[in-house]
Amino acid sequence: MEKNKPDYYNNLDKIYSKIWELLQHGFRKKDSPFHLPVFICGNNDKLDGRIVVLRGVEESAKKLWFHSDIRSNKIKIIKSHPKSSLLFYDRDKKIQLRIGGNSKINYRNDTTDISWKKTIHMSRQCYLGNKAPGSLSDIPTSGLTENIDNFKYTIEESEIGFNNFCVVEFYIKSIEWLYLAAKGHRRAFFNLHKEQIEKKWLIP
Ligand SMILES: Cc1cc2nc3c(=O)[nH]c(=O)nc-3n(C[C@H](O)[C@H](O)[C@H](O)COP(=O)(O)O)c2cc1C
Repeated sequence: MEKNKPDYYNNLDKIYSKIWELLQHGFRKKDSPFHLPVFICGNNDKLDGRIVVLRGVEESAKKLWFHSDIRSNKIKIIKSHPKSSLLFYDRDKKIQLRIGGNSKINYRNDTTDISWKKTIHMSRQCYLGNKAPGSLSDIPTSGLTENIDNFKYTIEESEIGFNNFCVVEFYIKSIEWLYLAAKGHRRAFFNLHKEQIEKKWLIP
């Protein structure tokens, strides 16, 4: 291998493996740049992106997932327009991923049961507001009571948050890879068909 060039530089198979390695790392490590992708969805009039926390990665099912509040605007959009994308960038590794796919909302089912049970006391705070995220307010507020703001609730009291909790599974259809390198950028595209993965180079 040429000096300073990673082994995946000119190898589509290795890039594809690297993508899953980076996603797994992003899911497991809070300080990884891949831990906080931008999730983009929209309808015919408006597209919007927002940061989410990567909560799971499953290569065999070609899916990723994150948690959200069922009352949030993005959930309303996904219901009618499941086509969406996730954007990742690792500044140190100089790797960008643009992942396209379909989002599926899980609410009050086995998937949400499993995820909710793993959700720690502190994280449950997000689901304990009385009003929907994005609601108008006359005053500046977190939307939480003082006790909830100060984490003064028991794990039993936090169970009510399950009513607002959902898991968005994102089924990957395509991945575009961009690797920035002084010696020449590399761009690749992967179509994730049911039975096989189509891999091709693009001009960066
Ligand atoms: C660091 C960070 C992590 C976030 N994680 C999530 C998340 O995992 N799920 C989520 O729904 N919103 C998360 N948010 C909030 C969203 O970015 C967004 O503000 C919120 O979901 C409302 O978006 P919507 O009105 O488009 O539904 C996070 C924001 C930041 C800054």
